[in-house]
Amino acid sequence: MDLDRPLTRPDVLNDWNPAMEGSTREFEDVFLLTPSTPHYPPSHSQKSPPPSPTPSRDHHHLLPTQLRLAQIVEMLHTASLLHDDVIDASPLRRGAPSAPSKFGSKLSVLGGNFVLGRASTALARLGDGEVTQLIASVISNLVDGEILQMRDVVLGGGDVGMEEEGTTQDIGIQGKTKNAWTIYLQKTYLKTASLMAKGARSAVVLGGCEEGEVWKDIAYAYGRNLGIAFQLIDDILDYESTSTPGSADLTLGKPGGADLQLGLATGPALYAWEEFPEMGELIGRKFEGPGDVEKARSLVLRSSGVHRTKLLAKSFAEKAKEVLEELPESVAKAGLVALTERVIGRRS
Ligand code: FPP
Ligand code: MG
Repeated sequence: MDLDRPLTRPDVLNDWNPAMEGSTREFEDVFLLTPSTPHYPPSHSQKSPPPSPTPSRDHHHLLPTQLRLAQIVEMLHTASLLHDDVIDASPLRRGAPSAPSKFGSKLSVLGGNFVLGRASTALARLGDGEVTQLIASVISNLVDGEILQMRDVVLGGGDVGMEEEGTTQDIGIQGKTKNAWTIYLQKTYLKTASLMAKGARSAVVLGGCEEGEVWKDIAYAYGRNLGIAFQLIDDILDYESTSTPGSADLTLGKPGGADLQLGLATGPALYAWEEFPEMGELIGRKFEGPGDVEKARSLVLRSSGVHRTKLLAKSFAEKAKEVLEELPESVAKAGLVALTERVIGRRS
């Protein structure tokens, strides 16, 4: 019940000092101190009850705190997409006009921050320090990932490399593609897989996993591998879209061919670079030269880049499935296995 207490008081538009529960003022009034009366019936404990030390083995059992965690994770995801559609100037999201195209960038950013604020309050209410730290760190991971994505393609100036600024050491095309892959996968973890890995781990923490038990690590490994597979498939779908680049793809629910236009070299382009060295130059200048986007797309489609990225995604999904082997058979486990297959087979 405590978890479900409304976050918004009916008088939210009025002034409210949290130390004076029940006391609200119209802004026209001078602010006067009045004795406080509790607005909500006091709860028995400030904190949520600790999770049961012996979690239920009932396969269908979901704790209210775990359900709330799932909602918090979805809220973080939504907040990040509200911001992402501003950064990517995307006109569509899930088949509908994106928030920035409908309400403008300012309201989208503010809306994202609002959802983030609400998610943070709900997270605090879960009353679990370990989960709070895990989920809070996801927020910074999302931002880190997005920043890494902005800078990864410009490393080394005109061409992609990992030379420290000021050094001229030539690491060769193999070294450059290897470094670009490292950055790409790191970014993929930060912007996508971290939420799934730490979200899954948090669910197990709330389930009452004891220190030293392996369940938390299984959950983390599952979410991490599944998340990377998910993003690799996302990056493939951008190339498999049959819509003209930049225009709406009805199956995908967003414009296809967007990554190259945003200057992003994802898995398929990085593999294509190994087969067509001229790709390096295009990546280095973020496909900004005349005809670069079309040329890069044609190189990718002539290469085995999409195919190899799919194989890589499958290997991550397979690893996610493998870590589940340690778990006893259950409906929940079957659901997690099925999810690894759906992530690979998805078309939107
Ligand atoms: C979608 O990627 C975007 C993300 C997975 C993360 C975006 C994160 C931020 C903008 C940082 C801000 C975060 C918060 C919590 C406010 P994509 O552009 O590859 O996918 P898309 O094609 O579906 O847009
Ligand atoms: Mg985007």
